[in-house]
Amino acid sequence: MNIEPPVIPYNFADLEPAMSRDTLVFHFLRHQRVCFDRMRTLVRGTELEDLPLDDLVRVTEPNPAQHGVYRYAAEVWNHNLFWRSMRPQGGGAAHGLMGEHIRARFGSYERFTRDFREAASAHFGSGWLWLVWRCGALEIVVTSNSATPLVRGDTALLALDLWEHAYYLDHQNRRGAYVTAFLEELVNWDFANRTLAGLASVADLRAPRVRPVVDGERPRVSAR
Ligand SMILES: [Fe+2]
Repeated sequence: MNIEPPVIPYNFADLEPAMSRDTLVFHFLRHQRVCFDRMRTLVRGTELEDLPLDDLVRVTEPNPAQHGVYRYAAEVWNHNLFWRSMRPQGGGAAHGLMGEHIRARFGSYERFTRDFREAASAHFGSGWLWLVWRCGALEIVVTSNSATPLVRGDTALLALDLWEHAYYLDHQNRRGAYVTAFLEELVNWDFANRTLAGLASVADLRAPRVRPVVDGERPRVSAR
């Protein structure tokens, strides 16, 4: 298989106190590594074995007979994004390109955080909360279970795991407290800025489209 085992780009205790070492150890070793191992077992000896992770997710998603592989591959991919969406001493208002585009899309950083929190709160059950680049603008997107924006042509800029295993040890069932810790102490805007700057349409990125926010407008929520 051409897919390297997942890694976390910092030490398990580096996100404390916002996210405990125990949470990261259990999350990484008991969830993402398990998904990786099961994915590897399922593709071994098949025509899927040599695909890179992105292609494995895209190829298996439309085929119900391959959804066993898809679910594990998507979970590996989603978690890879999630680890990089956080950093030690992260959090706070977006800066750089992300700051510009958040103000253009949502009106203000505070408005963005309100919509982000509301999208997390409104989602029932397990899933993922994303900030993606779609058709020239930022969008807040929610996906259920292991579904991923990768298969929709969106560029994922930030991922927040909404499965209870991501926050139960630290916050029990208080998802809102977990989202607050992510926004105020963990979010890695440098990672999102690098991804955004790497997109092909850099010329467009330099001039954010001002999109008036209609009062009461809700963040876009995926059907999955
Ligand atoms: Fe997770």
